[in-house]
Amino acid sequence: MSYTFYKVLHLLGVMMVFLALGGALVRSRLPEQTASWKKLIAITHGVGLLLLLVAGFGLLARLGVFWPMPAWALLKIVIWLLVGGLIALINRKPDTGPVWWYLTLVLGLLAAYLALYKPF
Ligand code: HEM
Repeated sequence: MSYTFYKVLHLLGVMMVFLALGGALVRSRLPEQTASWKKLIAITHGVGLLLLLVAGFGLLARLGVFWPMPAWALLKIVIWLLVGGLIALINRKPDTGPVWWYLTLVLGLLAAYLALYKPF
């Protein structure tokens, strides 16, 4: 599969994960909790994470990056783990919503910066 194909999948993964986090943040503050939305959000988040990781490694392979992985790519994997764990924090600590909101944005910004500037 081509570099461009992996890129489209990677970006779809980004959209799904961030859509799900936004949905989870809003849902966590609603007075009435709907189970159907919780399920849709969890599935969107999980599938998005899978797409991000698989397509991320596909992109690395197409760029000819194997082991040792550059620091920017390792850091993106750490960001991926954090973004993966955020949904549990959002559900468990809805009162900290604004913190999760801005943290999500900062993590997204950092991931994009690392991929595009590759500073180290
Ligand atoms: C929350 C996690 C992540 C976000 C938000 C994210 C976001 C992005 C964005 C916005 C781009 C730029 C796309 C473009 O060129 O238009 C990108 C590219 C890329 N990402 Fe990720 N990414 C994440 C996780 C990962 C992971 C886990 C890996 C590796 C396993 C990875 C590897 C790459 C690679 C190799 C590129 C292409 C760089 C290039 O074309 O030079 N990303 N990512």
